[in-house]
Amino acid sequence: MPALVVIGAQWGDEGKGKVVDYLTSRCDMAVRFQGGNNAGHTLVVNGVKTKLNLIPSGILREATTCLIGAGVVLNPEVLMGEIEALRAAKVKVEPQRLLIDFNTHLILPYHIAIDGAREEAKGQNKIGTTGRGIGPAYEDRAARCGVRVADLLALRELKARVDENTEHANRYLEHVLGSARRVGFEDVWQVIENAASHVLPFAADGSRVLDTALRQGNRVIFEGAQGTLLDQSFGTVPFVTSSHTLAGAVTTGCGVGPRSVDYVLGVAKAYSTRVGSGPFPTELSDRIGETIREKGAEFGTVTGRPRRCGWLDAVALRRAVRLNGLDSVMLTKLDVLSGLESLKICASYELDGKSLDDLPVTLGDIGRVVPVYQELKGWNEPIDQARSTAQLPEAARSYVKAVSQLIGCPVSMLSVSPERSATFEHEGSSFLRDFVA
Ligand code: IMP
Repeated sequence: MPALVVIGAQWGDEGKGKVVDYLTSRCDMAVRFQGGNNAGHTLVVNGVKTKLNLIPSGILREATTCLIGAGVVLNPEVLMGEIEALRAAKVKVEPQRLLIDFNTHLILPYHIAIDGAREEAKGQNKIGTTGRGIGPAYEDRAARCGVRVADLLALRELKARVDENTEHANRYLEHVLGSARRVGFEDVWQVIENAASHVLPFAADGSRVLDTALRQGNRVIFEGAQGTLLDQSFGTVPFVTSSHTLAGAVTTGCGVGPRSVDYVLGVAKAYSTRVGSGPFPTELSDRIGETIREKGAEFGTVTGRPRRCGWLDAVALRRAVRLNGLDSVMLTKLDVLSGLESLKICASYELDGKSLDDLPVTLGDIGRVVPVYQELKGWNEPIDQARSTAQLPEAARSYVKAVSQLIGCPVSMLSVSPERSATFEHEGSSFLRDFVA
């Protein structure tokens, strides 16, 4: 076995890519199981920035095989761009190192057109999607008219379906969304032909490869995208993404049984951020929020949008502990809080005079909750050079302790700067240590 799933415990952008990169030093397989190129990982290795949207971060380690599972929606052109960029940076990307499940669905130009036009039509009520066609591609999968990687093996049979899908999309754009956007069949077909030439060589029976790897006792990391509160069922619906972002999605996203995962690691920032619309109880619309945004470089990897920033929300994190069955949490970007005189952690909510220890069920109520904060002393000194808990100021250690107590889950690791070397054990776990040693 040992198989580990890394999950975002907040609204995404928690630093999962960095954690996975850290944990892949002895990893045999790194696997994506949901989402698409709405996700973005920025990794800093030896001072060089590498951005990945689709390919698992494990690709930077030569001994790691990467799998894009069937639960992902894959934009073939983005994938080809990433392969090219990695090759230009002298990273080996060969079909033996990168596998794409035959059942993975493709994002095609009409999905992107619909995503954009729908947001325009919604105006003020827009979800704030990344505009990458993620939702419409998942809709086609559910409607059983999507195009899978396996379909690229039979282009002649595929043509009529793509023609029909394109025509349907154009009618929807014009008559339902009132949009001037149109998609040409030839453009869609060009993408499909390119994918048949350049993506198909990487196609594999991902579920079988993974099953063999697990049976052989290989170390496997399942790399979640987005975060718990963006889950399409248990997040802040409708301001969520269109896939299941929880640990349970590993099974249907890769074709393995629920007993395949041995350890669930949640990743959370030492504060909260959210990009796009939707309720955010601990949001800071003041100088402190701006300071966190500036210091934490809180601008989207995919869209460049400024992220909304706020205090750590232990209510939301407790929900993540429960929904994912987290074994421990890794706390990232603790260094960003240096220099703030006092710090707050939301311990519970209040709504209409009642105390709540979980998110209420309606969107309206989530928007009305008042956070009840626990206030802690801040610390002044920079901590980005710390490489162990002992090197942290006492106030920082107390902050981490308070987080762990409030969420009812151990904090196994801390990260204090973007550098690979700035991640270290806190309440260590022998399971995680085995991935790094
Ligand atoms: P979509 O996934 O592009 O459909 O966007 C739906 C919502 O999820 C929007 O609020 C996005 O900002 C958010 N979202 C999608 N992917 C990410 C991510 O990787 N990090 C943070 N937010 C994301």
